[in-house]
Amino acid sequence: MNEEQLIAAARAAALRAYAPYSRFSVGCAIESVDGEVVTGANMENACYRLGVCAEVSALTAAQAQFGLDRVARIAVAGGDGSGTELAGSGSVTPCGGCRQSILEASQLGGRDIEIICASGDGSTVDRHRIADLIPFGFGPASLADAG
Ligand code: THU
Repeated sequence: MNEEQLIAAARAAALRAYAPYSRFSVGCAIESVDGEVVTGANMENACYRLGVCAEVSALTAAQAQFGLDRVARIAVAGGDGSGTELAGSGSVTPCGGCRQSILEASQLGGRDIEIICASGDGSTVDRHRIADLIPFGFGPASLADAG
């Protein structure tokens, strides 16, 4: 899948978000090293703090489909999902908690993960790497000394 298609998958996933409280729909598409793709969207809850981000939703799908250690590339898009197409001009970067979850996949697989951050309307695209988004992160490698 090329980058455009991966972003399209993330934008499409956002339209299936359950975000009645924030009204901010986020979609995430994750590609494996073998080119398999899974998606997820944010899922909020009446007990607000229990909401799940799109990235974690997609990571759980990736774990089930091909394994966290095979994650290669992630696309995220967010904005107004009330219409037939996701809207909004600002690109969405993963929140701090999601960066930590992506770092877990990165260290498990022993590879840096590319994160493509798109705006809701797809017009803005920023590219990052998890190593840059969470420098000096604490991950599974940090626990190695405990045996
Ligand atoms: N959200 C995500 O799904 N991913 C992020 O990286 C940022 C925030 C969701 C959480 C909440 O449902 C809504 O966006 C507003 O914060």
